[in-house]
Amino acid sequence: MVAQLDSKASIRGGCAGDKGCILVKRVNTRNGPTAQESFDCATLSIICFDLETSPTGGGLRFGATELVGIIRAMVITIDGPAGSGKSTAARKVAARLEVPYLDTGAMYRAITHVALLRGIPLEDEQAVVELARQTRLEVDCGPTHARVRADGHDISEAVRSLKVTQATGAVARIQPVRDLMVAEQRRLGRRLGSFVTEGRDQGSIVFPDADMKFVLEAELEQRALRRLRDLQVDGEEVEFREVIYDLKTRDANDSVQWSSLLRPDAAIVIDTTDLSIAQVVDCLLGHIRAVIPWPNASAQS
Ligand code: DC
Repeated sequence: MVAQLDSKASIRGGCAGDKGCILVKRVNTRNGPTAQESFDCATLSIICFDLETSPTGGGLRFGATELVGIIRAMVITIDGPAGSGKSTAARKVAARLEVPYLDTGAMYRAITHVALLRGIPLEDEQAVVELARQTRLEVDCGPTHARVRADGHDISEAVRSLKVTQATGAVARIQPVRDLMVAEQRRLGRRLGSFVTEGRDQGSIVFPDADMKFVLEAELEQRALRRLRDLQVDGEEVEFREVIYDLKTRDANDSVQWSSLLRPDAAIVIDTTDLSIAQVVDCLLGHIRAVIPWPNASAQS
């Protein structure tokens, strides 16, 4: 017997020509449980196949297991200013959904770090673009961590220094560098299938067809306090007013990237000023669960 897909609502995509990672619930229906019962005890796996050649509708069978639900690859974007809590939230939401997390800021930071290391003046746009073109970036998008390597060297920690943080804006402003990063992010996205990505332009420019788009915001002082705490944990000696100045400068440069998402219905905007990280994560998962029947999207952190 092949279980019927139990709810049309849980089937997303399935268009001929769609390719990519598809999350399926696999169950062994030898004892004949109903689809809903099977769903609860199912094993999760992400497989890749080509919908053009796969049977859709009705039941699907792969060997001894049967598929009771299909969800098209899910892309979730989280944009917003520094200190809005989006990195931690994106990482935790990805871990909960058991999908990779793409830290796009780390890519701009990586180019900046290499430029500083090689003494390339950041005002020399041509030299920075050339460097970005030649540097082999590898971003390891695990569900609980993101590591970045440039030409084989792991620079995940180095890219978080205050020096790199303050210099990255100059690199991220160079349009040809952005074009290279956007192309690379799309390439990574195609490989990952389902993922949570975080940055400034993810929902607006890089993945305009994302399933869900969020913008996280918070008041400047609160964001500065969060940044200050992070920097102090990293052993940086920095004053509050310095952090405020840095954030204001970055906001002025960065906000243009996600401003189109602030139009009505373009994205879900969440003000995190008075929310703990756990509350932000619950809020995001709540929105996701309401739209996408993704397993593990239960709202408790
Ligand atoms: O999110 P973050 O602080 O790691 O970002 C580092 C810098 O890179 C910051 O100046 C904004 C910029 N950035 C960007 O312009 N576009 C992105 N998609 C991600 C980051």
